[in-house]
Amino acid sequence: MSHVPDLGPDFVWGAATSAYQIEGAVAEDGRGPSIWDTFCQVPGAVDNGDTGEVACDHYHRWREDIGLMRRLGLDAYRFSIAWPRVLPTGTGRANPPGLDFYDRLVDGLLEAGIRPFATLYHWDLPQALQDRGGWANRDTAFHLAEFAAVVAARLGDRVTDWFTINEPLCSAWIGHLEGRMAPGLTDITLAVPAAHHLLLGHGLAAAALRNVATGPARVGAVLNLSPCEPAGPGEPDVAAAPPADGHTNRWWLDPLHGRGYPADMVEVYGVDPPVRAGDLEAIAAPMDHLGLNYYFRQVVTDDPDGPIPYARMVSVPDGQQTAMGWEVHPDGLEELLLRLSDDYHAARIYVTENGSAWPDEVLPDGQIEDKERMSYLEQHLAAGIRATRGGAPLAGYFVWSLLDNFEWAYGYAKRFGLIHVDYATQRRTIKASGYRYADIIRAHKLGQRATESVPG
Ligand code: IFM
Repeated sequence: MSHVPDLGPDFVWGAATSAYQIEGAVAEDGRGPSIWDTFCQVPGAVDNGDTGEVACDHYHRWREDIGLMRRLGLDAYRFSIAWPRVLPTGTGRANPPGLDFYDRLVDGLLEAGIRPFATLYHWDLPQALQDRGGWANRDTAFHLAEFAAVVAARLGDRVTDWFTINEPLCSAWIGHLEGRMAPGLTDITLAVPAAHHLLLGHGLAAAALRNVATGPARVGAVLNLSPCEPAGPGEPDVAAAPPADGHTNRWWLDPLHGRGYPADMVEVYGVDPPVRAGDLEAIAAPMDHLGLNYYFRQVVTDDPDGPIPYARMVSVPDGQQTAMGWEVHPDGLEELLLRLSDDYHAARIYVTENGSAWPDEVLPDGQIEDKERMSYLEQHLAAGIRATRGGAPLAGYFVWSLLDNFEWAYGYAKRFGLIHVDYATQRRTIKASGYRYADIIRAHKLGQRATESVPG
């Protein structure tokens, strides 16, 4: 892949992070506690007892981090805004120092020529709202819209690209059904309302961003999707694929695209989403862009005695696996991009996350030769390009992640960064994959210029 001209001159090259995973400074400048601060204190909830208390100390090192983004040649940076920094109890009076932090960050990015893509909710719900029922409580959707309005009033003159919620699947299903993420609940009667209120929050927050921002506001949601395939040709496995697809993909895509909740899944869950008049319209308000986070496909087998949705993911024999145990399957990215384009008529898609964790080794000279991450990156970009040839409106690609960071229940053990972080010293080192990404970006831009200069 010497250059990648198929992507067009406006293609956005970026990298992504989220607030709790990199910022640290959890008790500074008036920030309130979030559900992840609480979850990290639960014995055994997070590997090694790790917490986001310090993380990458990005709250203090953001200037250095912008410098690193420049060295990579990024066009854009996707970050999230910590709700408990801005509204320490989730609602009510804003905390000026919290807003000041993002104000400085946005100005710094713009000065560096890097376009800010801001996500409002990347899982750090203020604990005070959890104490009132969290996402299972309908009010939380309205509080997200309040948060959106406060943020848009401060940043909406300069930030034009917004995402409301990130991966509601993880918040609803992993946080309220599987219990492996905050708030650590295992109750389908809470998980289904939480899922609905996350989507409702998206719709209300999107409207608030558009109403309050003084500049243009392009808004969408970010979903983590996976193609779901039967493990074998037998009827039970074949029958397991639709509920896996419903749970992972259709439950989110259908209501966002005006189709309501999939009836087969309401039956699987045995719980009706608490939809009130006007909710489905709010959820389905047209998005300017859709964010796709892609990591792996799901190969599933029937599991009638297992947890909902009774379709269990199995590992693929001979498939290459990342340190997360996720199969490397770039074709899945192409398949999803085409599905979003063909079946859901997405107007503009960003791959808002794609990346991989590997057991990176720091060599004696301090360098990290992460060949697997480099190859993963190249293969997935190639898959994205194939999808554009098939008509998918892919507008940009954000590597997960800019920096090694706090990988939720896995703590710091799993490293996804293009940039290595030595957590003892906070020293940052660009990995070989980071240099490779910079080369790809540069080659793309040179290729574009060369293409433009060739008449006809
Ligand atoms: O680290 C996470 C991120 O917060 C959300 N998407 C998946 C990443 C890797 O697990």
